Amino acid sequence: MQVVKTVEEVRAARWTDPYLTWGLVPTMGTLHEGHLSLVRRARAENDRVAVSVFVNPIQFNRREDLDAYPRQLDHDLGLLEAEGVDLVWAPDEDQMYPSGFQTYVSVEEITQPLEGASRPGHFRGVTTVVAKLFNVIEPKHAYFGQKDAQQVAVIKQMVRDLGFNLAVVVCPIVREPDGLALSSRNLLLSLDERQAGLVLSRALNAARDEWMGGQRDAEHLRATMRAIVEAEPLARIDYISAADPITLRELEGSTDHALLSMAVFVGSVRLIDNLIVGYGEADLRA
Ligand code: PAF
Repeated sequence: MQVVKTVEEVRAARWTDPYLTWGLVPTMGTLHEGHLSLVRRARAENDRVAVSVFVNPIQFNRREDLDAYPRQLDHDLGLLEAEGVDLVWAPDEDQMYPSGFQTYVSVEEITQPLEGASRPGHFRGVTTVVAKLFNVIEPKHAYFGQKDAQQVAVIKQMVRDLGFNLAVVVCPIVREPDGLALSSRNLLLSLDERQAGLVLSRALNAARDEWMGGQRDAEHLRATMRAIVEAEPLARIDYISAADPITLRELEGSTDHALLSMAVFVGSVRLIDNLIVGYGEADLRA
């Protein structure tokens, strides 16, 4: 496994044989089973696998959040080596954003609600760094987790709009046995907060149960989730949503599909989770 820092080193490693296919897994490090599920899928579907490890400062809108974001590169490299990864790009900030950097990629409409409303500038940071990763590595497939449902929709939009020559592959959310969606941020939770964090999946599952029982009213589904989260003393709602899975617009009245999602502060840690009702995963991949 080659571990490199600069764009030139990535290109030299990437183009040893132009006929090999590359899969890319973009990450911010502090890897968990969710990331490794993407790496394994990439390993199975490509000749070569590249993983980027970069805590992207321009996608954080709160300095405290960036400073608190966990970092453990040596541990990450051990995990990636064991998965048979070929190339790791772990740039320093000045390689990703050299002095004088002034080019940003911005997706418009679908970045406005949900995460975009709560974290102004977040998606501009994500699409800028992901566009650069795509340009430098030129993968055939790029792997992202469904846990960041809006990120997936935004990146697919960017790929369509700018004609990137690659396929975005979306992999299912990986959960702890008790339902907590895996996230690098889980490391920041105290034991009590870890327990309280279960309220996200509990609320989503309750809304899904209502859906299965025939409930189709979007406001009703939101109210169900809200009531469950509000009953948890350590939790504070950022948003609770039942939105169209493609446009991400909030649904009103009766619906035949929905992306149920939420962002909730548990203590000072902001957790997100989601699930889709009414669409199979294959519909969304199309
Ligand atoms: O999902 C993440 O970890 C990040 O948003 C990404 C895609 C690696 C860009 O920094």
